[in-house]
Amino acid sequence: YGKINIAIDGPAGAGKSTIARRVAGMLSYVYVDTGAMYRAATWYFGQLGIEPEEEEKVLQTLPDLVIELIPGEDGQRVRVNSQEATEEIRSLAVNAKVSRYAQIEGLRSRLVSLQRQMALRKGVVMDGRDIGTTVLPDAEVKVFMTASVEERARRRYREMKEQHQISLEQLIRDISERDRLDQEREISPLRQAEDAVLLDTTEMTLDEVSETIVSMCRTFV
Ligand code: C5P
Repeated sequence: YGKINIAIDGPAGAGKSTIARRVAGMLSYVYVDTGAMYRAATWYFGQLGIEPEEEEKVLQTLPDLVIELIPGEDGQRVRVNSQEATEEIRSLAVNAKVSRYAQIEGLRSRLVSLQRQMALRKGVVMDGRDIGTTVLPDAEVKVFMTASVEERARRRYREMKEQHQISLEQLIRDISERDRLDQEREISPLRQAEDAVLLDTTEMTLDEVSETIVSMCRTFV
């Protein structure tokens, strides 16, 4: 029995990263958060004052972009060209623009090849939008995680704790808009792979979801 790769895709706020991190912990696998990579790129172009519409400039500066995902005690740290950006990549400013940068083909192909490299030795739990369809089409276990948009917004709202710079209603609108852009884009849109298992988590607990996924892996490991 060797190691396998696990692909977890789904819309914004479905709980993919929490679940992927847990599953990785349960199996002693490595967790790769691909959303953090698109967020890191978004923060980087923002620092340079390059808008998502300026595709040529994005592609020109792309070779200089270095993203590091560093696993740590209290979750993953993110560094962009040696600068600490863990908190910054979760800001409302990044939320508002990430799906527009994520439509740029040259940026996607760069990040996809990095993601494939990280999964070469297997034993990876990777979450995102196009993992089962494009990044790791041969992943042994593929899950498409959803929940109603209201439930996803409520989960995000709770995560924000006291720092509510945004109302629940606005959050529902933001998430719906990000889902729309992710589903409608031309290159690797958010879509359930044909061989992925659909998991609607609206009424499931974190334990139930992670147990379900780990049990899907039991046939392999
Ligand atoms: O998962 P997270 O919400 O952090 O992802 C942020 C954004 O990055 C998504 O809304 C999507 O536009 C983009 N993304 C992507 N492909 C992935 C992961 C994220 O296009 N594999």
